[in-house]
Amino acid sequence: MDYDLTGKTIIVVGGGGYIGSHVCKAIADNGGLPVTFDNFGSGHTHAVKWGPYETVDLRDKAATLGTFTKHKDAHAVVHLASSIEVGIGEKDPAGFYENNVIGALNLLEAMRALELNNLIFSSTCATYGETNQMPLLESHIQNPFSVYGKTKLAIEQMIQSYHKAYGLSYITLRYFNASGADVSGEIGEEHEPETHLIPIALASASGLRGKMKIFGTDYDTPDGTCIRDYIHVTDIAEAHICGFKSIAKGLTQAEVNIGTGQGVSNLEILQMIERVTGRHVPYDAAPRRDGDLTRLYADPQRAKDLLGFTAQHSSLKNIIQTAWNFHSKQWNL
Ligand SMILES: NC(=O)c1ccc[n+]([C@@H]2O[C@H](COP(=O)([O-])OP(=O)(O)OC[C@H]3O[C@@H](n4cnc5c(N)ncnc54)[C@H](O)[C@@H]3O)[C@@H](O)[C@H]2O)c1
Repeated sequence: MDYDLTGKTIIVVGGGGYIGSHVCKAIADNGGLPVTFDNFGSGHTHAVKWGPYETVDLRDKAATLGTFTKHKDAHAVVHLASSIEVGIGEKDPAGFYENNVIGALNLLEAMRALELNNLIFSSTCATYGETNQMPLLESHIQNPFSVYGKTKLAIEQMIQSYHKAYGLSYITLRYFNASGADVSGEIGEEHEPETHLIPIALASASGLRGKMKIFGTDYDTPDGTCIRDYIHVTDIAEAHICGFKSIAKGLTQAEVNIGTGQGVSNLEILQMIERVTGRHVPYDAAPRRDGDLTRLYADPQRAKDLLGFTAQHSSLKNIIQTAWNFHSKQWNL
């Protein structure tokens, strides 16, 4: 146990989703009671295993306040609920701003009305502006390319304003690429549509979809493909426990990268999948996509200094092995 949450209720908004379900497990493992709030638009009731849930849509202001009121004695709130598919955001910015920004405003207003003052918010490395300077520090300029990143930056700024004006204590965690699955194989990544590399590559390796695409094979990297910072979802969940602990010790405001500090290329991922599963990953080389940087990986030092957090489960082998355990069960392989 890293931090004793015994007797404490934590509201996990988006707890039916990929990362949220792992956060709920970590809270329960540390003695707390996670209460999931979710509209189950992309999340799953079967992923809520460690506490009760409330079906609520953050876009509905009155329902959001009503649901928070039922749990007004909660110790803290984790806000993970979001539209996340970058491509959909480009086609439907109105839907993205409504779900992410208005949803977050309704959440913050409910918290303010009930004097719930501790928040951990799920932000993203997609809020940073374009750069070739790696690793990425939290002080790097935020100038997001995508609508998704813009909505997340808007929420970060709203939270900062609530801190300044109303005394909200918060930690904004800027996750890099979430990956892997709980070691039990009972929860994992279940997005629909799935746009993340590892589950797509595992599905291609399993013959459940055709050849996958690798976007860009002419980047200035050792194998020509993009480099990203993959962090195990169990580590991300653990970062929240470190966050609760830091708030309890008096931290009232922080923006922190949650990554490993190591970059891994797309082809390195495919090679590790072949090693772990013994299956070939069929792929076609496709043109680069707009907005994809060559390299993107975190400077993880602030997370260590402020939260005492370091990734422990994020070797590429463990990421692929746990993801494969989950998906091979899910797909009845
Ligand atoms: N997956 C990643 O690699 C990654 C990287 C950086 C940041 N993030 C952030 O982490 C968070 C969780 O991501 P995820 O991959 O678990 O996504 P997910 O889609 O699996 O989970 C999001 C959850 O929020 C719920 N939700 C969405 N809109 C809602 C609304 N209006 N009201 C109530 N519930 C709503 C969904 O039903 C779902 O259960 C998101 O905020 C995302 O932006 C994810």
